[in-house]
Amino acid sequence: MIKLGVNVDHVATLRQARLIKEPDPVEAAVWAEHAGADGITVHLREDTRHIQRRDVSLLKEILKTKLNLEMSVNREVVDFACDIKPYMATLVPEKREELTTEGGLDVKGNEKEVSEAAERLINKNVKVSLFIDPDIQQIKSAKNLDVNIVELHTGSYAEAENDEKIVSELQKLIEAAAFARDSGMVVNAGHGLNYRNTKKLCRNIPFLNELNIGHSIVARSVFSGISEAVREMKRLITE
Ligand code: PXP
Repeated sequence: MIKLGVNVDHVATLRQARLIKEPDPVEAAVWAEHAGADGITVHLREDTRHIQRRDVSLLKEILKTKLNLEMSVNREVVDFACDIKPYMATLVPEKREELTTEGGLDVKGNEKEVSEAAERLINKNVKVSLFIDPDIQQIKSAKNLDVNIVELHTGSYAEAENDEKIVSELQKLIEAAAFARDSGMVVNAGHGLNYRNTKKLCRNIPFLNELNIGHSIVARSVFSGISEAVREMKRLITE
C-alpha cells in the first residue's frame, strides 16, 4: 500500500505570519498521526520562513511514525540534520526567492555537494532521498552516488492544464518510476498533489512507496474545520 507522508510546513507558515506559538506544526503532526499519516515531512528552509529548528527537534523526539526532513545541501543545515538524525533526509534544491521548491535537484550538476551531504547523513544512519524531476538521467546520477531512494517531482503533472498534458506528464512519471524501481530504488513522489490528481497517480504507479503531500491537506483542513471553529466561538460569545 502506498504510504502517506503529511507535510505540515504550512501550519508553520500560518504561525510565522503572527510570530506567535500557534498553530503549532508539531501539534498538527500529532493530529496527522492520529488520523493515519505514515510519516511527517517538514522542510527546514535556510531562511526558516516556516519550519524552525525547534520544530524539527521536537518532532524527532515525539513522533511515533517517521520524520522526513527536506533540506538543501547547505553545510549548516546538514550539520543540524546530522545532529538531529531524522529517519530520512530528502535533499532538495533551494532558492531564496521561490515560493516553493520549484524544480528537482540537478544531481549531476551538483554532484560534489550532493554526494558530500548524502555521505555525511548516511554515516549518521540517516536514510537519504533525492528529490528529482522524472528524468532518467537524474535517476542514473542518483544511483551513481549510491543513493537508493528518490522522490519524483510531481509538480508538472499537478499543474498540467489539459488532458493531453496530464497524460504526457503522467507518462513521464510512470517511466521514471519504473526505471528507478528496476534499478533497485525506493520510489516516492510529491509536490502539488491534491484531492483531484492523487488517485490517478496511485492507480497508474501502484508500486510507489510514499507520497508526500502538504499544501492541499492543510488547505482542506481549514474548510473541514472552520464550521466547528466558528460555532465554538459563537457559543463562547453568547453564553
Ligand atoms: N515533496 C517535496 C520534496 C517538497 O519540497 C514539497 C513541498 O515542500 C512537497 C513534497 C509537498 O508539496 P505540497 O505542499 O505541494 O503538497
